[in-house]
Amino acid sequence: MASLALPDALIETLRSTRSVAAVTGAGISAESGIQTYRGSGGLYDDPVEGDRTMEALSAPTIATDPDRTWRAISRMAEQACHATPNAGHEALVEIERSVDDFVILTQNVDGLHRAAGSQNVIEVHGTVFHTTCMSCSDSRPFERNRYLGLAVAPRCEECDGILRPDVVLFGEFLPVEASRRMQAEFDHELPDVVLGIGTSSMFPYIVAPVLRAAQQGKVSVEINPEETDVSAAYTHVLRGTAGEVLPLIAEVLAK
Ligand code: OAD
Repeated sequence: MASLALPDALIETLRSTRSVAAVTGAGISAESGIQTYRGSGGLYDDPVEGDRTMEALSAPTIATDPDRTWRAISRMAEQACHATPNAGHEALVEIERSVDDFVILTQNVDGLHRAAGSQNVIEVHGTVFHTTCMSCSDSRPFERNRYLGLAVAPRCEECDGILRPDVVLFGEFLPVEASRRMQAEFDHELPDVVLGIGTSSMFPYIVAPVLRAAQQGKVSVEINPEETDVSAAYTHVLRGTAGEVLPLIAEVLAK
């Protein structure tokens, strides 16, 4: 955006908005220094695995070569260990305080929405900071510093089995509880405004709220410096970064 200002029609809508849903992807964490997945310099443009990174982050690979999966996860998780929430994450915390109903549906596994202080967060792809033992199913938080220099799959403190991070790998179902909450929030009447922030919208359950907003005549806003395959489905498109645009939206909603 040449000059960062919200369109008048959107400001008018926001003045009477009582409920907001934010659907977020890796782009909202880019300004915290975390790589996105796609595009030049993204996680899938990795110098070691290249486009085989997705294979490394898959159900068959963690079953046969867990060290490889953990190395791929730790490249992103190490960045998350050092990262702090940015102005975009913080603006969503403000928005949650300003409206009656609010939910974040995030694909991010970096924990930054919760770290910022957002309350109603659905981490639909899980989190890198929790693990489950693949032998005894012991489930517990994974300390941040264990990612630093991690080269082999970590072991369970209970049975010495191999741990897996509680993230959704390619070829796996979404976590049951997150799916249930996602249905409860998005399968019926949507909030007044749906924000799509920093996502290339690759998955049907991420595209669905935007399409349903259009069907229900709700307002939807894409916040992304780049065009995406679903840009045309939004009622408003703001070509700026999350850290630039979300504070402007939070400011209007706070009044
Ligand atoms: P992508 O890497 O596919 O897309 C990131 C999006 O963020 C792009 O559309 C960028 O233009 C945009 N972007 C970059 N910087 C931004 C900024 N500062 N502010 C706003 N937008 C910005 O990441 P996701 O859409 O999150 O899943 O990817 C979705 C899923 O694909 C991930 O959760 C992961 C991956 O495969 C699994 O691993 C299961």
